[in-house]
Amino acid sequence: MTTDTNRVIIFDTTLRDGEQSPGASMNLDEKLRIAAVLEEMGVDVIEAGFPIASEGDFEAVHEIAKMVKKSTVCGLARATKGDIERCAEAIKPAASGRIHTFISTSPLHMKYKLQMEPEKVFEKVKESVAFARNFTDDVEWSAEDGSRTEREFLARCVEAAIASGAGTINIPDTVGYALPHEFSDLIRYLFNTVPNIDKAIISVHCHNDLGLAVANSLAAVDAGARQVECTINGLGERAGNAAMEEIVMAMRTRGDLMPFTTGIVTENITRASRLVSAVTGFTVQPNKAIVGKNAFAHESGIHQDGMLKHAQTYEIMTPESVGLTQSKLVLGKHSGRHAFSEKLKALGYSISDEDMQDAFVRFKALADKKKDVFDEDICALVDDEVLRVNDRLQLECLEILCGTKHQPPKSELTMIIDGERKSCKSQGDGPVDAAFNAVKKLFPHGARLQLYQVHAVTGGTDAQAEVTVRLEEGGRTVNGQAADTDTMVASVKAYINALNKLLLKREKTAPSALSA
Ligand code: KIV
Ligand code: ZN
Repeated sequence: MTTDTNRVIIFDTTLRDGEQSPGASMNLDEKLRIAAVLEEMGVDVIEAGFPIASEGDFEAVHEIAKMVKKSTVCGLARATKGDIERCAEAIKPAASGRIHTFISTSPLHMKYKLQMEPEKVFEKVKESVAFARNFTDDVEWSAEDGSRTEREFLARCVEAAIASGAGTINIPDTVGYALPHEFSDLIRYLFNTVPNIDKAIISVHCHNDLGLAVANSLAAVDAGARQVECTINGLGERAGNAAMEEIVMAMRTRGDLMPFTTGIVTENITRASRLVSAVTGFTVQPNKAIVGKNAFAHESGIHQDGMLKHAQTYEIMTPESVGLTQSKLVLGKHSGRHAFSEKLKALGYSISDEDMQDAFVRFKALADKKKDVFDEDICALVDDEVLRVNDRLQLECLEILCGTKHQPPKSELTMIIDGERKSCKSQGDGPVDAAFNAVKKLFPHGARLQLYQVHAVTGGTDAQAEVTVRLEEGGRTVNGQAADTDTMVASVKAYINALNKLLLKREKTAPSALSA
């Protein structure tokens, strides 16, 4: 992949470990969109899913493998023939495909989770890697719970995995337990102990249970690791994984002490962060490093004064370096198709002529309602369009009566359900409740509302509202989104979007012990 000894391979697992966050499930279209952005931003390896976990996961890995040309597409597999065969099948169409197979090596996991003796695990390491090599030359092996594994045993397993054909050895801090100096010491120990270590790339995969995932990853790189597994916005199991944007920007900003490079086009970071947040409904905390709303905001007078005199007084990296451009007034109702399509290209969208035409009509409608149309409005508008392809349920008309004179609030709703127009009236404790009750009346369902979240796409009282609705039904969770200048319309569209996704969603039947 690279011969530069200071080049760090970025392995993104947003679509696998990230998707394992409760509530963060994504459908195929969403995964394809995220994969396209990851490829464009220069991610070396995209872990696209866990093919044995479900039909949906298999399909996602398979479709991403067909679509992606520049990044390696990877699938996860436990140390069994069935998992590895399924993974091999899923990555088959990839220009460059990887099988990532793992097994737990810590005493705790071997005894209680696997109920296997260490020697049996050791045999499985060799068998699984050798078996995976029948399908591809690019095999990664992970020692799950590596940071809590006895060092001598870990070193033996690593040596055996390399000897069996693994080109990448991943040492996860699965439960986010390690401290930076301890973790770098473990990596150094492996470099000093494993005789064939120079035949493999050493990778790390850190979870954030103690808020140390990024620090541990950087400490490991300092000790010789040359692949980092991470996710956009730090999404992932429990407290998440190491945040890619933080790792990449730390290396870029502190090249004086960390002379490492990545292939990431950092100017794409903000776009990727927004897309992952919109798709999952996981808002980024305002003070989150690199991608939080306030990451480049300077509130206090002293800071603002310093910034005006010299930006570097309080800014260690520029907002532009992470793709955060000043929100400019870009287009208005007199802007033409050409300007609109140029704008879309500048924002990183490549959509078909037909989608472009639809988006343009919607842009004109928005510009009629909203005087100032910002970049963020255009992103929301295009993203909103993509969300509604092939919907079985559609909103046709919504009317709400609310306010001090109309108690309880009332709604009147018309929907198209499988091509049939249906209308009803309803009421509720508030306007949202009244509107959602109407949806439920027209399309009865058992899904439970887990999250209803509104945020303004831009500033100003004429801002578009971007709404996320999370629904859960029979253990399956989906996130619906929509944007509109009318908050109630956006709310009902987001609710309907979530219902459409529930209708589409395939059973996600996780085999036992899929915890990774
Ligand atoms: O956290 C973990 O150990 C994992 C492995 C499967 C790499 O996700
Ligand atoms: Zn993990």
